[in-house]
Amino acid sequence: MALDRDSLRILARALETLEEGFSRLPPCAPPAADPRLEEVLETLATRLSDNYPYFHPLYAGQMLKPPHAVARLSYALAQYLNPNNHALDGGRATSALEKEAVAELAGMFGWRECLGHLCSGGTMANLEALWVAGELHPGKAVAASEQAHYTHSRISGVLRLPFESLPCDGRGRLDPGALEARAARGGLGTVVATLGTTATGSVDPLPEILKLARRFGFRVHVDAAYGGYFVLAANLDAHARASLARAGEADSIVIDPHKHGLQPYGCGCVLFRDPGVGRLYRHDSPYTYFSSAELHLGEISLECSRPGAAAAALWATQKLLPLSPGGAFARGLERGREAALALERALAQGSRFATPFPPELDIVCFLPCGGSREERSAEARRVFREAAQAGLHLALAELPARFWPDLAPAAGQATVTCLRSVLMKPEHLDWIGPIVELLDRAAAGAAS
Ligand SMILES: Cc1ncc(COP(=O)(O)O)c(C=O)c1O
Repeated sequence: MALDRDSLRILARALETLEEGFSRLPPCAPPAADPRLEEVLETLATRLSDNYPYFHPLYAGQMLKPPHAVARLSYALAQYLNPNNHALDGGRATSALEKEAVAELAGMFGWRECLGHLCSGGTMANLEALWVAGELHPGKAVAASEQAHYTHSRISGVLRLPFESLPCDGRGRLDPGALEARAARGGLGTVVATLGTTATGSVDPLPEILKLARRFGFRVHVDAAYGGYFVLAANLDAHARASLARAGEADSIVIDPHKHGLQPYGCGCVLFRDPGVGRLYRHDSPYTYFSSAELHLGEISLECSRPGAAAAALWATQKLLPLSPGGAFARGLERGREAALALERALAQGSRFATPFPPELDIVCFLPCGGSREERSAEARRVFREAAQAGLHLALAELPARFWPDLAPAAGQATVTCLRSVLMKPEHLDWIGPIVELLDRAAAGAAS
């Protein structure tokens, strides 16, 4: 049995407790189930199986995995009420849960007094951070490395802020020398430091970026949508550890519970070091803020309606798996990182693939050896298809060819298609053997 059904019993019991909480109301029967409900659900189950098996360790492709059972059940439980965390009127209990859960997230970066809230995901969270940055540095440029998430340039366009892409070094990290030269020319309002890039999991050199911020007066926004939770992991290399340890010195941080925080999609988080930026959100809402003079979360977020269920799920997850170094949650992250190191070692021992540099988090990129850039790209695509047919699901990425020492420097600005594996499930560590075996077979098949 691959998909857990046992925990549904726990949900049924929790539902009884939830109902007891409203027992003073006159009884009202739930709407009768439509007789076609079962049929529709059966059809849906069949349709949903036309997906890659994200729950399985042999799905080792993109940043995708199902949420933890505690999050799935808590979200489902809250759905019986469907609270809206815009205002206390719509989600009193879940607003309190959100404030607690967000305070715990902020605590990972050493922040006690800060402003933050959940939102629909990393893009929305980065939009809020760059909107605040633009309000504080109107008209000044936003800069991020060429490996930063593509939405930073789009968000800057939406906000009508000039956006500049800065080169990264041979390990996919923002190049501090290029940043220094750009900052010296003036007009730079904000620098996005990505702690865990989407493609390679590279960690930008935050200590150097912070030093330049002090010298040139720009704002630092940390996009830790993917990598932020790794601040809890004990097995990072010195560079990644040093950058994550300094995240709390940035002006704002984005971290996505729906990536490494075990949550269903629809859960990002933006945090601001200075709670005073809350003034920028000030607005009148003649319809919503009646039940209390206390802070309504809609007063400090750009979105209006937001799912209280997402806060319930996150809160419950953090209760079961606290965000503490050395705890079970941190151990899960460490296992993913160990899996990435094990895969890199196995690839280095073989002769078929080359990694560009050691993984900084739990993402490994690799390119078939031998041949021209075009031949190696075509081979990567063939291995990707053959592996999928054998049940191993990887991803492809288009990366600067100069990341591979044997292609640089002749490759110039050209890119190469490589294989990419995000080993974000703790179980991946136990499956590196079968993954490498399937990969070798796919490579042998692709070559023949
Ligand atoms: C570093 C980084 N920032 C931002 C995002 C965008 O997040 P979302 O897809 O939740 O909008 C991603 C997504 O992969 C990411 O890896």
